[in-house]
Amino acid sequence: MSRMVNLLVLPHPQQRLPVLASLYPCRLPTIHTRSANSVSESLRKWNIGFKAPRRLVLGLGASFWSQFMSMAGRARSKHLIALAKQEVVIEEVLKNVDWPQQFPFKEEDFQRFDESPDSLFYDAPRFVTHIDDPAIAALTKYYSKVFPPSNTPGVCILDMCSSWVSHFPKGYKQYSIVGLGMNEEELKRNPVLTEYAVQDLNLNPKLPFEDNSFDVITNAVSVDYLAKPIDVFKEMCRVLKPGGLAIMSFSNRCFWTKAISIWTSTGDADHVMIVGSYFHYSGGFEPPQAVDISPNPGRSDPMYVVYSRKASTA
Ligand SMILES: C[S@@+](CC[C@H](N)C(=O)[O-])C[C@H]1O[C@@H](n2cnc3c(N)ncnc32)[C@H](O)[C@@H]1O
Repeated sequence: MSRMVNLLVLPHPQQRLPVLASLYPCRLPTIHTRSANSVSESLRKWNIGFKAPRRLVLGLGASFWSQFMSMAGRARSKHLIALAKQEVVIEEVLKNVDWPQQFPFKEEDFQRFDESPDSLFYDAPRFVTHIDDPAIAALTKYYSKVFPPSNTPGVCILDMCSSWVSHFPKGYKQYSIVGLGMNEEELKRNPVLTEYAVQDLNLNPKLPFEDNSFDVITNAVSVDYLAKPIDVFKEMCRVLKPGGLAIMSFSNRCFWTKAISIWTSTGDADHVMIVGSYFHYSGGFEPPQAVDISPNPGRSDPMYVVYSRKASTA
């Protein structure tokens, strides 16, 4: 089995056009790098409550920032993001956010370059890994800290957008670990799963599970492929047990043509905000939080987690 990194590193916005022109080799590793830092200016401006210049907004994904910043400006958002040497501190991004009243994204933000059925794209199994080994190790370590202990009676976990690997701690077991993804061959080979379901969440976001079924939901490096994220997050809330934990992790790589446009036109800190907004606007979750678990910043793939618990009253 191949163990090569499989996804494209998201380019800097200034590099978008050249990369767009060479979309198809997107499963090769690239030399582009992108840090969370490049959005710090816009986040800072948004958070001190005035509108950023349009050229800056355009560089970051016009629809997202122009809507978000003007709405936040109207709401006179006062909170400051902690900045160290103009760097965004990922942990601060979701603290005390003054969310606009309405979900600030438009339909076009969830369009993908490749709108052909996802079943075609995922038809052939890919027995590869999509982030590098240190990033995988960081995610596994994070899971080992927050997961219920292995073999806890009655614990059920759902790994959404699952494949042949879930990055769970070695030997980790529970009564039920369900994988939901697009490719049956991959899911069949995933050693941690006790069950699996093949379902295209962009066609049918309704999760095939009963209310209050799961203690934990994971989604590794795939939240960016969800074209109906609010519907999916509402479903996640429905199937989580009260107090259940949802863990969305992501890096800066993706299948460029299949990721939603708001993702491919923004950077790491924006992604934290975007995923945080899914939790916020789907309702029923506690305020989302972010953690930067990047193992060797600048030397291996970055890794971020946005998580939240289903409110015990939901
Ligand atoms: C980049 S891979 C990540 C796989 C795995 N989570 C991992 O960490 O290696 C993207 C995964 O998202 C799943 N996926 C993509 N689009 C999906 C959709 N519309 N509905 C359900 N799953 C989807 C695919 O099956 C694929 O396994």
